[in-house]
Amino acid sequence: MYLRSDARIGGLISDDTVRYCRQFLRSAGCGRLLRVAEHPRLRGAVRLLERITLPGIMLHYVLRKRFLREWALASIAEGCNQIVVLGAGFDPLCLELHRRFPEVQFVEIDHPATQAAKRAALAELGLNPRNVRFVAADLARTPLDQALRTGMERDGGTRSFYIAEGLLMYLEAHQVLDLLHRALQSAPSRIAFTFLEPQAGGRPNFRNSSRLIDLWLKQSGEPFAWGVSRADLRDGLNRLRCTVREIADDAGLVARYLGVQRPGRLVPIEGEYACVADLNR
Ligand SMILES: C[S@@+](CC[C@H](N)C(=O)[O-])C[C@H]1O[C@@H](n2cnc3c(N)ncnc32)[C@H](O)[C@@H]1O
Repeated sequence: MYLRSDARIGGLISDDTVRYCRQFLRSAGCGRLLRVAEHPRLRGAVRLLERITLPGIMLHYVLRKRFLREWALASIAEGCNQIVVLGAGFDPLCLELHRRFPEVQFVEIDHPATQAAKRAALAELGLNPRNVRFVAADLARTPLDQALRTGMERDGGTRSFYIAEGLLMYLEAHQVLDLLHRALQSAPSRIAFTFLEPQAGGRPNFRNSSRLIDLWLKQSGEPFAWGVSRADLRDGLNRLRCTVREIADDAGLVARYLGVQRPGRLVPIEGEYACVADLNR
């Protein structure tokens, strides 16, 4: 939220994103955090907290969301008629696009508890979008195709764009592979996902992660489980006969969205990348 007031970055964050995220945070009981993040005199404290935990993580989020939004728009323009956001959390993409593309079906799949908080926020905003479907499922246990079939007739003409942003690192390697295989069954389609690379010691992580964050992830029962190097990912996707369209790193995204100059001290965190691949059957 606080990056919105940064002249160099604010333009990448839409009014809708801010509106939805404010409501999501309030409904999740994080109203106080929101007030701190938006208070002009307390913003410095939030910046400091970011710097000592995961420096550059907020800019990284802004850039990767911009990137995924751009691919979603391109995919719709190319004929995708279903956008499936896996582990959607409080991401506002479907809500931002559903009115502009009434013919497209948007689907969000997430853990029941997270999704309930999001749906409560939408109810408070008086929103019940006709072409956004919410599926509560644990993707570590429920196969993707089964989750997608929940409450819906299968439609042979569906061309999907799957987005798994900030999700796959919480799954085991075999679960990631299963998810890809299931998505492949629904070809022709496309997937975009973010992934962590293994760092020194072999564990997937951000490059500058602090021990504080590692400890917090461990405590909250959400340690990163899966990671892959960019080279191994490319090989693996080629073996699955997927066409890698792009693997984006933050330096590339900074160049693309903010101009070549790095924006002062706002350097995004490294270690997580975004991949887009066409799933060819
Ligand atoms: C780090 S958040 C990312 C949220 C959103 N995609 C974004 O990037 O803004 C991870 C999300 O994945 C969801 N998630 C994690 N493991 C999951 C699982 N096994 N099944 C379904 N959702 C899961 C969490 O509930 C949460 O919403």
